[in-house]
Amino acid sequence: MFIHLLLIIWTFQFCLLIQETYSFRTPKHDSLFYYKTHASVFLTNPLNHTTSYGIYVAGQTITVDIPTSVANVFDILNWKVINVKKNQLMFVHQNKPYILINQTIISEMEYSGELSDSIIAFGDNEALHVPTIFNPNLTKPIPDWNYIELLHFDDQSEKVSVSRFLPWLKDDWKFIKEWNMTDYIHFDNKLYLAIKRSIWNEKSAKVTQEISIVRLCLDKGSELISSAVEIHFTQEAFENNKIIDLFFVFLSGPLITENQRYQLHTTQSQPSNFTIYYIYFIYDIVSLFEQTSNECASGFGNITLLRHHLRSEIGKCKKTSYQSCSTKANIVPSKNVSLIVTGQIPDLLDGALYGLAIFMPKPQFVTLPSPFDRAAILIRAKPFFLTKICKYRNLFSVPLECINLHANSISPDDISEFNEADFHTNKLPYGAVYVTKETNKILFIPIEVCSRLKTCTQCIMYGLNSGCIWFTSICVHDNQPKNKVTLTVDHCFKIMNISPLILNSSSPTILTIELDKPLIMASQEQLVIQAGDNHCTDIAMNGQFINCSMRLTKSGEFNIDVSLRNDRYADTSIISAVSSDKVHIFASDSDYTLIIISVLFSCLIINSFAFIVYFRKCNKKHLNRSKKVSRPRKVKQFVGTLSDKKFIKFFEPKKQTDLSAITPVKAQIVSSTMATLDDSRIINETSSEQASLWITMRSVPRQIFPRRKLLQSKPKQRPNDFSQLD
Ligand SMILES: *[C@@H]1O[C@H](CO)[C@@H](O)[C@H](O)[C@H]1NC(C)=O
Ligand SMILES: *[C@@H]1O[C@H](CO)[C@@H](O)[C@H](O)[C@H]1NC(C)=O
Ligand SMILES: *[C@@H]1O[C@H](CO)[C@@H](O)[C@H](O)[C@H]1NC(C)=O
Ligand SMILES: *[C@@H]1O[C@H](CO)[C@@H](O)[C@H](O)[C@H]1NC(C)=O
Ligand SMILES: *[C@@H]1O[C@H](CO)[C@@H](O)[C@H](O)[C@H]1NC(C)=O
Ligand SMILES: *[C@@H]1O[C@H](CO)[C@@H](O)[C@H](O)[C@H]1NC(C)=O
Ligand SMILES: *[C@@H]1O[C@H](CO)[C@@H](O)[C@H](O)[C@H]1NC(C)=O
Ligand SMILES: *[C@@H]1O[C@H](CO)[C@@H](O)[C@H](O)[C@H]1NC(C)=O
Ligand SMILES: *[C@@H]1O[C@H](CO)[C@@H](O)[C@H](O)[C@H]1NC(C)=O
Repeated sequence: MFIHLLLIIWTFQFCLLIQETYSFRTPKHDSLFYYKTHASVFLTNPLNHTTSYGIYVAGQTITVDIPTSVANVFDILNWKVINVKKNQLMFVHQNKPYILINQTIISEMEYSGELSDSIIAFGDNEALHVPTIFNPNLTKPIPDWNYIELLHFDDQSEKVSVSRFLPWLKDDWKFIKEWNMTDYIHFDNKLYLAIKRSIWNEKSAKVTQEISIVRLCLDKGSELISSAVEIHFTQEAFENNKIIDLFFVFLSGPLITENQRYQLHTTQSQPSNFTIYYIYFIYDIVSLFEQTSNECASGFGNITLLRHHLRSEIGKCKKTSYQSCSTKANIVPSKNVSLIVTGQIPDLLDGALYGLAIFMPKPQFVTLPSPFDRAAILIRAKPFFLTKICKYRNLFSVPLECINLHANSISPDDISEFNEADFHTNKLPYGAVYVTKETNKILFIPIEVCSRLKTCTQCIMYGLNSGCIWFTSICVHDNQPKNKVTLTVDHCFKIMNISPLILNSSSPTILTIELDKPLIMASQEQLVIQAGDNHCTDIAMNGQFINCSMRLTKSGEFNIDVSLRNDRYADTSIISAVSSDKVHIFASDSDYTLIIISVLFSCLIINSFAFIVYFRKCNKKHLNRSKKVSRPRKVKQFVGTLSDKKFIKFFEPKKQTDLSAITPVKAQIVSSTMATLDDSRIINETSSEQASLWITMRSVPRQIFPRRKLLQSKPKQRPNDFSQLD
């Protein structure tokens, strides 16, 4: 009866939870895009591109065919895709939301606000948008802007709505000249945004140019904005130099010293209009954010809140209990870290970076995580012949190892043709893709990743999805179709022996497994040993011998399965070995378990009725609620004073009148480490000539057929240029 009551309470709470949260799964990324999603569209066969595109959104990949008559390569590669639904593909292009239906018709989605290029898709139709605010004359903007907003894209209604946001205070426009997110980086369930901003201080009558890093916790689901914490800094140089660009550099790998691991690279325009390249170091940024929210929650220290800081007001944090990723009543704690940031002109890199800054429209930085542990900076220059790809180890590794693209036997004609080309990171096959706007010519430069993987387990686990195979003791790329089972099971290691072969509760349940070779494991990998549904825990390894303690839950005869997995990335393969011998398991307490199960089951049946009634009720409410999600435009009754009561409205929940919803609602937390270990799929590359380094392709002039109404059957009569849709 007690259990019964508990279940009813739980059911009721579940109902409330559904109503109050608006959750999406924590994005988990493929290894090559672990730190940053460089592009959501890639060419599946860039050396001979036809109409096949790969779409990547937050760890999920699909392939779609988009005919040239619908949109051209140049435009498609610029799409920021929101979902992976083949027949209802939503994307943002040139600051407008669109939906591609049945791979043939593009129509604009309904959205009452303004979009900028700063879109980060999380999957589940959710995307973060950081509006670009450019307000040099400090005039009142129309419409109101938000600092950060979470957008929901609905493929059914073809509407985009703002579900959560961090709004401006009533007259913040008097202080914010510029707010521009220029880069982001994600790892370990956290998202870091690099924002350059200029704020006007009325009292001292001067403009401060600053760099801010905002951290959001991705496992908070739709409540991620309420987890925001920021650090910001300014430098004397910012008084004269204008920051043109700002991007994160994170170096992975064991050899990098901690104080160089986190870097912010900038290009700055000096008063003479000369562009320089400048690097800032921040020691262990991860702990800095924890420290900031911790100090803020303690109610003293030098932490203020973002709203005070932006208005150059003096304010302090409220004392609350500290919890990681929950800033409670303290809305965006903000710490001035100017004193601990060190800046450095990379004079050792003079030739490669400093002098080239002048030609760099947008440097691109790629870091591959462990076990690849590789970092490269793409100094993409216009004119094209100055473009280089350089290995980046650390600041002091001289000389920087660079490949000059023009050295790669590209004819002078092509070089000039690619002068104004757009650059993209191609996910699979991995490499750099250049595409020209007018002629849609493609230049692909493959980047080798397999050779970074040093053992068979690494090669298969991390490389199989990119086409790597383990061949005569090295990891190499191979285009042939692959049989995944033969490459993942009993391939890198085998089980030689197991003992004992009978396990029951009256004998020791320690199982000893002998492998054919010692297993080398990284800390990010997990070893799972199973006999059917029976898990073997307390694993101890010594060379090729493994001991573990078998939990006898299910009787029967089973093969032993030893598997090595990595839960961090979405695209790793599980590699395993299966014993040829079977173990007999006698789970003696299975009768007792059966009794418990049957008791629980009868309770469940009784509760199902209660649940169905509740669920129907709350589901109905929830549906009604989602229907009328609209963009809340005004932050009512907001007064920009220091009163904490009034500032509480700083966070605008979905329903602006519902005060109870203002305290960030507890979101359903989906731990990434607990996510299901699904077997990742393999895309067999269409065989391409890897040997030839590049190819050019001409396609028909770019055209697009906009669709005004779903009913319009034959859209072909209305060819139009994408740019004319604006
Ligand atoms: C390119 O692809 C087309 C169609 O798939 C094929 O007919 C052609 O032979 C390919 N060309 C090369 C050079 O691989
Ligand atoms: C897309 O395809 C589906 C099924 O093939 C069809 O029912 C639907 O009408 C199509 N939509 C448009 C806009 O053509
Ligand atoms: C700012 O004011 C100047 C001069 O009044 C004007 O030329 C410029 O267009 C304004 N800029 C914006 C972004 O409104
Ligand atoms: C924002 O920053 C980007 C650089 O990442 C730049 O290209 C863009 O022009 C900036 N926008 C404004 C309005 O300054
Ligand atoms: C720098 O460029 C700006 C705008 O392009 C121009 O107004 C200014 O005179 C230039 N300064 C120098 C020192 O050339
Ligand atoms: C706050 O900052 C000032 C300097 O700006 C420093 O002297 C003081 O020790 C800091 N206090 C704390 C608690 O960090
Ligand atoms: C941040 O700290 C630096 C160095 O102490 C100081 O110069 C700057 O004025 C501070 N900024 C704010 C907004 O307090
Ligand atoms: C348990 O297994 C041992 C051998 O490992 C065997 O001697 C014993 O009889 C078994 N006991 C039962 C209850 O099956
Ligand atoms: C496994 O257990 C056996 C017997 O208990 C012991 O001799 C051996 O050292 C253990 N091996 C490991 C790797 O712990």
